[in-house]
Amino acid sequence: MTEQRGNWTSSAGFVLAATGSAIGLGNLWKFPFITWENNGGAFVLVYLVCIAAVGLPIMMAELLIGRKTQKSAVGALREAVGPGWGLVGGWGVLCGFILLSYYTVIAGWSLFYFTRTIGWTTSGFPTDLPMGDLFGQQVSNAPLQLVMSLGFSVATVSVVYFGVQKGIERIARLFLPILFGILVLMLVSALGMSGSGEALTFIFRPSFSELEPAGILEALGHSFFTLSLGMGAMITYGSYIDRNQSIVKASAMIVVLDTLIALVATVIMFSVIFSVAGMAEQVGGSTVGMLFISLPELFYTEVPFGTLLGPLFYVLVALAALTSTMSLLEVVTSYVIDEHGVDRHKATVLCGGAVFVFTIFAALSFSGVPFLSTLAVFEGKTGWFETADHFVSNWMLPTGGLAITIAAGWFMTREATEGELADRTAPGWFRYDLWRFFIRYVSPIAVAAIVVAVFFFGVDFS
Ligand code: TRP
Repeated sequence: MTEQRGNWTSSAGFVLAATGSAIGLGNLWKFPFITWENNGGAFVLVYLVCIAAVGLPIMMAELLIGRKTQKSAVGALREAVGPGWGLVGGWGVLCGFILLSYYTVIAGWSLFYFTRTIGWTTSGFPTDLPMGDLFGQQVSNAPLQLVMSLGFSVATVSVVYFGVQKGIERIARLFLPILFGILVLMLVSALGMSGSGEALTFIFRPSFSELEPAGILEALGHSFFTLSLGMGAMITYGSYIDRNQSIVKASAMIVVLDTLIALVATVIMFSVIFSVAGMAEQVGGSTVGMLFISLPELFYTEVPFGTLLGPLFYVLVALAALTSTMSLLEVVTSYVIDEHGVDRHKATVLCGGAVFVFTIFAALSFSGVPFLSTLAVFEGKTGWFETADHFVSNWMLPTGGLAITIAAGWFMTREATEGELADRTAPGWFRYDLWRFFIRYVSPIAVAAIVVAVFFFGVDFS
């Protein structure tokens, strides 16, 4: 047996790292918002079906491709499927690059709100400062945006610099339990609020007459984003799994945890919103609105122990974002390490620096800088930031995901995939043939539907 490269120290370490990649702004920022927009219940149910029928099989496919080849996205697809497939890996690396560049900016906002809430907790909440204005001021303050996103980039680089075990896994082991702890605290507080019943009904009672067809595609598109699929991130993390771990068990754990956290975050936010008269009418505006405009004020006016929970909440957002940004940077860095023979330290700094150039563009998208603030490629999207987000969520992830599904279902042999999934570590409930059916038929058809909707009908997921 050839010597293995950097590996996770244990199954739990890997599951935490991959769950950390999956849990991020998608869970705390996007999911509650799209659930709101799509009127809850039925949308949530459809989302759960998408996660189980499309997300889970593709999660297994990505992890198995990584473990089988012990290579990062480009090399793995080339080796597992065929020479031309390296291009799909390259598409994924590019996607990680772009996503990381603007994700860091939103992550930076959580740092801003963390320092603000600490200030409010110690010296009082400013009742004369509308939160919408505060948000507007901070996004359009160019130096502030640059400092915060630089801070977050440096944090990301510092983790990836130390490699898989000493960097990524160590931080995931430390941060994820803290993140779970904060969420449980907030859930307890939220369930005690008067609006919690209404929130639970909204989220869990399906009413299909309120779900539009576009909502189904949105649920599907989001299941990719939230599970970090479609761009080789899970191929990369999979390449560090050793042969004694079950990919099936790990995939199930990651998917369940990610979904659970998205639901808990939604219950928390909606309980707060429904507890305040008139609030439900106000939050509809935007994704940003809920997390950074409605919530900060509610912590100081409505939420029991809100003065403590407010700062904690933004720590939670920052931690969730960091365990995702480090995974995104790892996709780019491991490509440079594996394919160009650069050592890890150099590769991390190089990639982190290159991505940051584009982070600058995203960070300045709201300060009236010509081009960056005015760029209009896609309808209804203005500025660099929105354009990048639209391109990644709508074009890159679904096309990458479609290619990966087809690779695993149609181009890899049955022996190759069966050997990775149905090995002696597989749990008793696992049926390989069922997986194969899903990855060959259900997933590609579902993902192709997204691609068709985006390309031909201009449906928008971002
Ligand atoms: N899953 C992350 C979230 O929900 C976002 C994301 C998409 C991601 N693709 C990724 C994170 C790849 C890390 C790696 O916020």
